[in-house]
Amino acid sequence: MTGPEGAPTTVDTSRPHPARVYDWWLGGKDNYPVDEELARRILASDATAVRGARANRRFMHRAVRTAAEAGVRQFLDIGTGIPTEPNLHQVAQEVAPDSKVVYADNDPIVLRHAQALLHSTPEGATTYVHADVRDPDTILRLAAETLDFAEPVALSLVALTHYLSAEPDGDDVYGLLKRYVGELAPGSYVILSQVTPDLSPEAIGKAAEHFRRSGTPFYPRSLPEFARFFDGLDLLGPGVIPVTGWRPEPVDVEAQTEGIVPVYAGVARKA
Ligand SMILES: C[S@@+](CC[C@H](N)C(=O)[O-])C[C@H]1O[C@@H](n2cnc3c(N)ncnc32)[C@H](O)[C@@H]1O
Repeated sequence: MTGPEGAPTTVDTSRPHPARVYDWWLGGKDNYPVDEELARRILASDATAVRGARANRRFMHRAVRTAAEAGVRQFLDIGTGIPTEPNLHQVAQEVAPDSKVVYADNDPIVLRHAQALLHSTPEGATTYVHADVRDPDTILRLAAETLDFAEPVALSLVALTHYLSAEPDGDDVYGLLKRYVGELAPGSYVILSQVTPDLSPEAIGKAAEHFRRSGTPFYPRSLPEFARFFDGLDLLGPGVIPVTGWRPEPVDVEAQTEGIVPVYAGVARKA
């Protein structure tokens, strides 16, 4: 485990944190009353929040399996979240035990539980970087201690970009993505998902307002805004699509009957 000097490592239980709110929706135990309160408040506005979190997690599994089955053996997962089995390395190493995985997140609660992410196969490797996605120099430098960026890497930011603004003098999420993708070798994959207002604008507007009021900026994006993240990359079929529709397995098809969830997903390959 590693990270830049000065990154906060104390868990603040006085206000909700996205990783812990998401953990509550996933049925996890690593959250506090403030997180549960916000998770429930959002669920009251957006009844799909729990299904959306689960569907998003399952998309991560399918996308990682797709990259691993295509021969990718290196993974950089930013905005990892609190460990929830199966974790990304377990999915990748089930396909290819020699897969190497670097996880990164900026939340001290994820750091506290990161040990669970470090149980690699003997042939592979897993490491954890405690850092902010907005500090690509640090993340890329520390990831390069485990990954060889001359070879393909699957870069995943799953359910992360909706916490980042697009303003060039703000988080500059498009510029940030470009910076990470620019480091990737041909044959690399980019795996993304994020909340959209397109399908249920009122519910998502309210959910975003709850997040913002609790101190977490939140930026749902339309389909064209989400698709723009993949500019210059070759999108894999079926393209950018609501998350349960991305190469669904039978259990996802079943989940679709409960209704669509307001999360877009996509996977692309760098030529
Ligand atoms: C909704 S969770 C998604 C977890 C996991 N990627 C998944 O989809 O199952 C979002 C994660 O992004 C992390 N996160 C939010 N802002 C971040 C930032 N600026 N830098 C790094 N991680 C961040 C949160 O701490 C949280 O763990």
